[in-house]
Order: sequence, then structure tokens, then C-alpha cells
Amino acid sequence: MIKDWKSKYSDIMKDFEGYSIGKIFKYLNNPEIISLAGGLPSPDMFLKSGMREASQKLLADNLEKVFQYSSVPGEVDFIQAIIEFLKRDGIYLDPENVVVTSSGQHGLDLTGRLFLDPGDLIMLDRPTFAGAIVAFQMQNPQIIGIDIEADGPNVDEYRNRLQKMDTMPKFIYVVPDFQNPTGITTSLKKREALLDISYEFDILIVEDSPYRDLRYSGEAIPSIFSLDQKRKGTNVIGLYTFSKIFCPGIRVGFNIGPKAVIEKMSNIKGGNLLNTPKYNQDICKAFLTEMDYDAHMNKCKDYYSEKLDVFLKTMKEYFPPEMGVTWTKPEGGLFLWVTVPEHIDTNDLFMEAIKFKVAFVPGDAFYGENPAKNHMRINFSFATKEQLAEAVKRLSDCVKAQL
Ligand SMILES: Cc1ncc(COP(=O)(O)O)c(C=O)c1O
Repeated sequence: MIKDWKSKYSDIMKDFEGYSIGKIFKYLNNPEIISLAGGLPSPDMFLKSGMREASQKLLADNLEKVFQYSSVPGEVDFIQAIIEFLKRDGIYLDPENVVVTSSGQHGLDLTGRLFLDPGDLIMLDRPTFAGAIVAFQMQNPQIIGIDIEADGPNVDEYRNRLQKMDTMPKFIYVVPDFQNPTGITTSLKKREALLDISYEFDILIVEDSPYRDLRYSGEAIPSIFSLDQKRKGTNVIGLYTFSKIFCPGIRVGFNIGPKAVIEKMSNIKGGNLLNTPKYNQDICKAFLTEMDYDAHMNKCKDYYSEKLDVFLKTMKEYFPPEMGVTWTKPEGGLFLWVTVPEHIDTNDLFMEAIKFKVAFVPGDAFYGENPAKNHMRINFSFATKEQLAEAVKRLSDCVKAQL
């Protein structure tokens, strides 16, 4: 009988603890708790009749193919639909530049597996998406975090740090549009500056864009991928997912990049997944080509921006300046970032908040190293407007009790 399982695990997985956010969800079973914790899009925005129609058609016309194994990089006609979709965003690709993934998380996993050996350096913002940190941590890299600013990565600090390094990081990971967890959008100037850094130091940029089309105010800013293409570069890999703009349950996304890199990612996919279900790809293709994408996105934008407005208005009312609490005001996406006075540890605050029947994600999950403790990530897309207003009041009472 094996008793010491740990001694059997690979060195790289022995101390791997997985997704830290997952651990708070056990506290959220009480239905009276208003949760602002998950990253869930609202099911009100699922295209229910479009999904049903596309499903029924697939099962009626193509059942045998749909439930068969299919190609590793992805279905040819789906990849073509993705190529057309990206043209709208100023990105021009051949099929060999695209690999279909089983969601954004899988895209991150392929990226980590392809580029990282244990001990390799990577650079990313502080804070940044916890799922990216956990995906990259599976390869045991050294993470160098740089504090993010209101208009995106602190590019001067990135450059300063790079100038002092003997070994270059394998890549810089960024979420330029409505970053998870802060909701911050990277300015055009900083996107260009990141590219300058990428060319100067010969470092790949991994641009993760799950929220790009969920803009509620302000003007769209070109993606770093498209800016790189304009400058005739090949330094950016783009990660996309249908989770937030369509539905997360379908688990489909795609990575884009230079042909050699995408071929490698596809080889890895052959080893860690084989193929993304054809059924899911076909439904996503129908989403892009048959379900009136623009009308759907306009609906999502109206719906989510109303929720964001309610949240921000109620925050202003219930968190007067003397409480010393600040928060970001995102122009899109699903999240914002709340900073409480430094003496409050939001892990402790979370346990108190549960008593007040409200929940958020403590901010320390979003740091690759040396976590800050006085932040919380708030999701405003899932709760109803009434719940959001009530959640802010409960949060305010909870914070007041700590001051
Ligand atoms: C920045 C970022 N990248 C990737 C993902 C993963 O998305 P998926 O649900 O498709 O795995 C998320 C999900 O929250 C995200 O916020």
C-alpha cells in the first residue's frame, strides 16, 4: 500500500497548490450571501435561442461527425470564422497562425508549457489574472511582478528592471483591456512602449484578451498584436476565449501567433488534450457567423454597463472619502479593484464579510510573489442590480466595523 503519495509526485507538482481562488468558494453555499467573487458572465446574456437552434441543427444534420475525434489545431471552417472575426479588429492571419484551445485557461497552459523551464523568469503586472499565475506556476518559473498603474503596466519600471537583468525573462504577460482583476485598460502609448521593450530586449509579449469587446465607454485601443503586425513584428502571442463574450461552459478559445509557435502549441495540444470537441467549435462558429455578433455585444454592453453604473454610484454613496477606501472605474470588462486602508487584511475581511452576507475575492490571489493584502476584486456582471446595491451597503457596514 502506498502511504507516502507525496514522495511519488513529480518535483514540479509536489508543492503545486492549484487555483487559490477556488478555496474561498466553499464559504459561499449560503444562498443569502451576495457573491461578487466569481468571474461569471450573466446567464441573462446567453444567446439561448441561438444556442438551441445551432445545437438542434448540428444534431440533426451532422451528429456522426460532431461526436467523432477531430483535428488537433481546430476545425478548418471554425478557424476561418476566427480569421474573419479578427479582421474586424485589424488583425490579419492565415489558418496556420491560429490554434483552437479548450478555453483561455488552456491557452495559458499551452503558453507556459511551450516557453518555460523551471526557474525561468517571467514578468507580469502586480496584480494580474490569478489563473495565468497558476497556469505558469505549473512550470515553476520565477515571477517578477511590476506594480500596475492607472493607465496600464509601469513600462519605465519594466525597462529599468530589464536593463539590470543578466538573463532575460521568457515573456511579459499582460491583459491590456479591462484587466482582471483591476479593470485597468492599458493606454495606446504604453502598448507601443511595451512593443518597444519587446523589440529592444528580444522578449515575447503574451497578450491575453478575454474582455476586449466588452467596452462600455471610451474608444477602443488597438491590441498589441495588431500594433506589432503594423510594425511588421512577430513578437506577440494573442490569447482569446469565448467564455466572457459567449459562454464559459463551452470551453473554447484560441491562440494566435507566428506559424512556428502555433505549430508547437498544436503539438503540445496533441499531447495534453488532443482535440477541442467539434460540437463546441461548431456552436462557437455559429456564434460568430449566425447569431448577429454586433447585436449581441451591444446588448451585453448595455446590460453590464448599467450594472457597473449601479455599483459605482452606490460605492460613492456608501464609501465616503473619510473611510479611506478607493476603487478603479473600469471602461469595460467584468471586474473592479477596491483598495482598503493598509491595516486591513482582506483575507480577514472576507471572513467578516461572510457574516455580513457578502463576498469578494481577497486581492492576494492576484500576485505572483509578495502579495499585497489590502485589496479586493469585485465582479459586477453576475449579481442583479438590486443585489449589487445591497452588496455595497453590506460591504460598507463590514468595512466600517474594521475601521
Ligand atoms: C485574463 C483572463 N485570461 C483567461 C481567462 C480564462 O478564461 P476561460 O474561462 O476561457 O478559461 C480569464 C478568466 O477569467 C481571464 O480573466
